[in-house]
Amino acid sequence: MFKGLLSLALFLPSVLFAQTGGLGATPPMGWNSWNLFAGRVSDKDVRAAADAMVSSGMKDAGYIYVNIDDTWQGKRDAQGVLQPNSKFPDMKGLADYVHSKGLKIGIYSSPGPTTCAKYEGSYMHEDQDAKTYAAWGIDYLKYDLCGFRKIMMEQAPNDPAKATQMMKDAYEKMNKALKATGRPIFYSFCQYGWDAVWEWGPSLGANSWRTTGDIDPTWDRMTLIGFSQAGLAKYAGPGHWNDPDMLEVGNGKLTLDENRVHMSLWVLLAAPLLAGNDLSKMPQDTLAILKNRDVIAIDQDPLGKQGDRVSAVGPKEIWVKPLKGGGKAVGLFNRDDTPLPMTLKLSEIGFPAGAKAYDIWQAKDLGRLQSDYTVTVPRHGVVLLRLAK
Ligand code: GLA
Repeated sequence: MFKGLLSLALFLPSVLFAQTGGLGATPPMGWNSWNLFAGRVSDKDVRAAADAMVSSGMKDAGYIYVNIDDTWQGKRDAQGVLQPNSKFPDMKGLADYVHSKGLKIGIYSSPGPTTCAKYEGSYMHEDQDAKTYAAWGIDYLKYDLCGFRKIMMEQAPNDPAKATQMMKDAYEKMNKALKATGRPIFYSFCQYGWDAVWEWGPSLGANSWRTTGDIDPTWDRMTLIGFSQAGLAKYAGPGHWNDPDMLEVGNGKLTLDENRVHMSLWVLLAAPLLAGNDLSKMPQDTLAILKNRDVIAIDQDPLGKQGDRVSAVGPKEIWVKPLKGGGKAVGLFNRDDTPLPMTLKLSEIGFPAGAKAYDIWQAKDLGRLQSDYTVTVPRHGVVLLRLAK
């Protein structure tokens, strides 16, 4: 009996990985156009992002996907084949260009008749659109519920269970359409975490699923989203990841410490790392955060386990992510407006006294710790540690 359960437990992750197409063994890394350009994005901007991804060293650090978000769509032709609009004169040419740089390209659609920005969606054209993406050479699809909510309201006005089933069916329809193309296309669900998508998304082919509404480049919104992710760790793993939305590192007025909090929290959450800033004009500080290899290694750790909160006392939060080989990444976060001392008790996170510690943002070896480690954490700041026995 016990042996049976054990082999079932070993077998399950590989079943899930097969269901999710074998893509996304670690969380996807790349760039997406929305946070910077919103509706203004054009072919030229996407090419420039691909160029900058390479010249800035982001590609070498692991950022691979260049993703076009909403507003690329034009009209359907007489056969129903969707054409891009005048901002994207040659989608196949653009995909070839991105591929020529050793990168991958992503696109965006909705199961509804229209997208959030009111452009053409894939409703009743799922197979056709999936074939079009595959013919262009698309590697990633973000599928945003938006316009489909209207269909749910029309067809199941007072029946939430039916509406939820309609939504699941719509995501499954595109899953089948994508799989039928034979092209590996990373499938990213975007329905803002409704109906506990983490419970059913992977079985419908989701490689990732948004867990919240939209992020914006403010301390309040970024932390509201990031720190609300406690408890979701068990749903993530190779091939299927929780997605607390794209990065705002380098956007808005986030300070150096706030950007470090954002990046630290997202890597502890094993979140997709999709930069959303202007890659062609990056201050050194921003680039240093996005490219920090020790930080990225936490997100991309091959064990594939998401981290979780281990304590929250007022504005002080400690989050821990298990790493391959028995080590752990630890974030000591201070959400307050003033610097605060914080204490990590090794025993509380499963380490004996004498564990080896490395302070990642300070790039400083701390040697072996006593049983407690006390450090002052800046306002709106983080101390990010890597511990090993
Ligand atoms: C929704 C999504 C965003 C973005 C926009 C585009 O709001 O959550 O990430 O894709 O639509 O219209």
